[in-house]
Amino acid sequence: MSSPDVRSFTVGPVQENCHIVRADAQAKRAVIVDPGDEPERLLQAAEALGVEIEAILLTHCHFDHIGAVAPVAEATGAPVYCPEIEVPILANIMAFVPWEGFGPFESYEADETVKGGEALELAGLELDVVFTPGHSPGHVTYSVRGEDAIFSGDVLFQGSVGRVDLPGGDGPTLMESIRTLLDSHPDETVVYPGHMGTTTIGAERATNPFLAVLAG
Ligand SMILES: [Fe+2]
Repeated sequence: MSSPDVRSFTVGPVQENCHIVRADAQAKRAVIVDPGDEPERLLQAAEALGVEIEAILLTHCHFDHIGAVAPVAEATGAPVYCPEIEVPILANIMAFVPWEGFGPFESYEADETVKGGEALELAGLELDVVFTPGHSPGHVTYSVRGEDAIFSGDVLFQGSVGRVDLPGGDGPTLMESIRTLLDSHPDETVVYPGHMGTTTIGAERATNPFLAVLAG
């Protein structure tokens, strides 16, 4: 097992984590996960790394994860992979922002859709798409095959789990999604979440109080 080179950027007023991911620190191609805001900063980061963005991957379509999709897609020409049932949200972002004072964000018509079960080969990475609903109805997790890393959006956090009170959210569904991730990844798997710090499957399995209901 090895680890991909991951650069994480916390962006926007909701402090969302966007990740630029490549196979290793010499790789010239990368994918970007959840460009939520601050497109210029993300594009400058990619340029500073000397990488070409080969794809834009979305875990789900809450505005804080997709606010920079359109400008990043337009600047890079990279295709956007969007959870299938959340495509209408990406295509009309401002209609789905639940609070005042955010945006405006530019909408985008997804180039590709994912729903879980796909195996993607992008930027020299093999990515398994795992359906992980509960925080949002179409939420997916991107698991880097053979590299012990997952990009899990707002499913599992360091010491916490995703909220389920937004439209389409459901608590028991979220816990089943977390169980799927725990059952299919070893303890050393690094979890790159959509908010707060990086963690591991093992650390959350051992200490996350919200996961106690999954034990036994
Ligand atoms: Fe979210």
